[in-house]
Amino acid sequence: MHKGLYYFFSIAMLSVFLTKITKAAVTIYEKKKVIIIGASSGIGRELASVFVKNGYLVGALSRNEEKLKAAQEEFGEDFIYELGDVQNNESIDSVKTLITKLGGCDIFIMNAGIWDDARQDLHTKAVLETLDWKQLLIDQQNVINTNVTGFSHMANFAFEYFVQQKQGHFVGISSVDAVRGNPWAPTYSASKAFESIFMQGWRSIFEMAELPIHITDIRPGFIATHPLNEGMFWIEPLDVAGQAIFEAIQSKEKIAYITKRWETFAQYLLTVPDATYNFLASNFGIRSLDINLENQGSAIQ
Ligand SMILES: NC(=O)c1ccc[n+]([C@@H]2O[C@H](COP(=O)([O-])OP(=O)(O)OC[C@H]3O[C@@H](n4cnc5c(N)ncnc54)[C@H](OP(=O)(O)O)[C@@H]3O)[C@@H](O)[C@H]2O)c1
Repeated sequence: MHKGLYYFFSIAMLSVFLTKITKAAVTIYEKKKVIIIGASSGIGRELASVFVKNGYLVGALSRNEEKLKAAQEEFGEDFIYELGDVQNNESIDSVKTLITKLGGCDIFIMNAGIWDDARQDLHTKAVLETLDWKQLLIDQQNVINTNVTGFSHMANFAFEYFVQQKQGHFVGISSVDAVRGNPWAPTYSASKAFESIFMQGWRSIFEMAELPIHITDIRPGFIATHPLNEGMFWIEPLDVAGQAIFEAIQSKEKIAYITKRWETFAQYLLTVPDATYNFLASNFGIRSLDINLENQGSAIQ
């Protein structure tokens, strides 16, 4: 080949190559980064899917590697994960690793939550008289360790990170149950009240400090994440809930009921007298507690 032609083709090839690399680098650089705690199943996994589809890089943390691997195979290279248990302080190191791998964090979603204190039906005198109080305490502590201690631990880490970054968006997946004590799972609803009130207090702190750190309190009703939720009233399919939560985050809503009709229900729950509330809870709460919760996981509202 003529030398001039050779140089021409070499330079052309090199510039095509460099353009491609630059484009890829810019794309990665421009992509927003979201961390999702508790993304191996249910709402968290659905959110990961929605965020990846919308061009985000997603970093996920939870305990079940098999499920996380399956999610990675489905969502592709924009989804990365680390193993971690929010009950364990060392999980913060895994979150740090995720942030390093992603190259930052714009949105931090604390979704991990459990409802283990619903393992025992507490509603009749006969049940109460023979209740396994020791087991109840173990279940309650498990809920508190995940939904209260784990939640505040993750939130504090995110807040510190966002304060140093001088901006950010924290999202907590609380529940409609935050508004009134649920007789099917008193510790769970108390833990969700903690999450919502905690977020309210911190939102005020950031507003008073004039820092652009947003906090969105997501309060789902019944979402179809679990067999125990099947047949519950107003149950929302997972994809509808995922999209609604994504939109609430995009518009930086302070509190978002998922879906919106649950807001009216929550207002109603706050105002009805105890007798009406108890009637509603016994007729429309989770009814299938004779199902083995050890095998089923836990139904959640
Ligand atoms: N489903 C509903 O109807 C509903 C209604 C209102 C509120 N919520 C709230 O929505 C959130 C998600 O519920 P879901 O129905 O999607 O439940 P889910 O399907 O059981 O998913 C829970 C997620 O949290 C993770 N997780 C649980 N404990 C963890 C721990 N100690 N450390 C790290 N990750 C942990 C689980 O992953 P690993 O098991 O892999 O760790 C899983 O990815 C919860 O906070 C729940 O309270 C749900």
